[in-house]
Amino acid sequence: MNKTEKEQAYTAALAEIKAVLQGESQMVLKMSTINCILKSHLPYYFWVGFYCMHEGALIVGPYQGTLGCLHIGLDRGICGRAARLAQTQLIQDVHADPEHLACDSRTNSEIVLPVFDPQGQLIAVFDVDSTEKAAFDELDQEFLEQLLAEQFAQSALEKQFLS
Ligand code: SME
Repeated sequence: MNKTEKEQAYTAALAEIKAVLQGESQMVLKMSTINCILKSHLPYYFWVGFYCMHEGALIVGPYQGTLGCLHIGLDRGICGRAARLAQTQLIQDVHADPEHLACDSRTNSEIVLPVFDPQGQLIAVFDVDSTEKAAFDELDQEFLEQLLAEQFAQSALEKQFLS
């Protein structure tokens, strides 16, 4: 996918997500819908899903793809690092990252983003994996950070004023 195609795909996906999730607040419903719509627009997505904070560690939440790891401690994996640092991790080659947890050996690159609630509390990380090398870049990061902020970090009041 070239830059323009990627931009168009994300713009369409985000608009669809916004329309479908209008007025919804239930977490599992929102996570499942985001996975489904993104995966149907972005052909290089191989695994897409959420790991949710639970008792100080991450547990697998709604996802689409092959079997994911069930539990990830904050000291393990790129997901653990994204949660620990509360920062997006953009990984061009997962095999070159010693912290990477290989749930499926076909994964070659990934992006993991922290997910915050309106109080700024870390509630989950959003993990997207690709079999392509260096599939993700700043464009993915920009669109996904915007989506996660809109869907999980903005309060209902903020949404009303920003839409
Ligand atoms: N990408 C992760 C592990 C989760 S799976 O790939 C679904 C990591 O290294 O944290």
